[in-house]
Amino acid sequence: MRGRIGLLTGFVAGAAVAALVAVYAVPLLDRDPGLERGDLVILSGRDDGDGNQRQALVDQWNTLHPDNPARIEEIAADADAQHSEMVARAQSGGAGVDIFNLDVTWTAEFASSDYIRALPDGQDVAGFLPAPLATCRYQGKLWGLPFNTDAGLLYYRTKLVTTAPANWSQLVTTVQDVLARPAAVGPQPVAGWAGQLRDYEGLTVNALEAIWGAGGEVVDGRGEVVIDTPEAQAGLTRLAEGLRPGAPQVILPDAVRFDETATTQAFGGGKLVFMRNWPVAHRALDPADGADSAPAVEFGVAKLPGPSVLGGQNLAVATQSRRPRAARALIEFLTGERSQQLLFERGGFAATREIVYRDAAVVKRYRYAPTLLDAIRSAHSRPVTAHYAQFSETFRQIVLEALGDGGRLPADARPRLQRALQGYK
Ligand code: GLC
Repeated sequence: MRGRIGLLTGFVAGAAVAALVAVYAVPLLDRDPGLERGDLVILSGRDDGDGNQRQALVDQWNTLHPDNPARIEEIAADADAQHSEMVARAQSGGAGVDIFNLDVTWTAEFASSDYIRALPDGQDVAGFLPAPLATCRYQGKLWGLPFNTDAGLLYYRTKLVTTAPANWSQLVTTVQDVLARPAAVGPQPVAGWAGQLRDYEGLTVNALEAIWGAGGEVVDGRGEVVIDTPEAQAGLTRLAEGLRPGAPQVILPDAVRFDETATTQAFGGGKLVFMRNWPVAHRALDPADGADSAPAVEFGVAKLPGPSVLGGQNLAVATQSRRPRAARALIEFLTGERSQQLLFERGGFAATREIVYRDAAVVKRYRYAPTLLDAIRSAHSRPVTAHYAQFSETFRQIVLEALGDGGRLPADARPRLQRALQGYK
């Protein structure tokens, strides 16, 4: 029995939708006479959650709001490709886009470039978790509402690992132990850990986490680059040493070509003891949660052995939208309590509203929900700058140079990053 899910299940059943339309549609439409009529388009990266739940929500909206039929225009899944496509659309006048589904790191750029509209001062934000909500704010204004949040989790093979490691050196010790003997249950792993080390935003995320996990920092709270410290250096050395071929192999060498999906496949196929990934990987791996086929491994999740990056996506009204009030109403619908519960339960997206994690049925069925909430609460933000894309690209270039040189940071890392934060190459 899934408690509140009963309500959600009812939504999907055709008959119940019809009943709901009868009960709610008329008053809802009556209550919103100010919404401009016409189509609404959401420009969004591919839905990586389970079962296309974002589309299911848009279908519900469409049933309830026949005057504002909405559709999702999907673009690339890769964060960098999404960024380029969204900026290109915004620069060409935002043709046909009403809502941007923005990665949390792009709020500053889209706000300062006037691609999105600020929400009114009185916007109701009660019930959102503070961290994801904060990623919607820039220079004193609220630019969107949080659609889903994200925090990295440590996935581990429960039959091979008894206690999740609290730090990187414990993780390495565990890997050494596990790889030294044949796996008692399931396939024999070939390496200890993989994250996303391909040259895209995933590498920025994983390298920041490596540096934070070693007690270092890249940009401090005042916007100063502070990467040239022994701690930050130690974080990169860990990655370089882990990747070095050896027995035991701490980091799977293929991880330098991995994005989120490839990492999930390697872990699900039994190649790894540990994987760093976002919460959506849980649904992809767990057959009880609708994974297409049973993974070869039994797994659990814990917090990362260090701080996680705070990820996620925010919905913002495009400046060029001809239906800004209707767009805002759709954003409120998609970020509302019921939508957030459905996105978490069915899609595996980390909800942006606290109440979802407090629901007794959710906690009973999704045992990792409290761990996820804890990870979100303690996650760190990436630097806030209108030139985030430039920062990230430069940071990654520096990380790749370091990895090619045994982990050693290039001598000019600090001035290069400082320039990138101002938008210069
Ligand atoms: C996830 C996160 C996002 C991050 C991206 C990196 O989609 O939600 O914030 O930038 O992964 O690949």
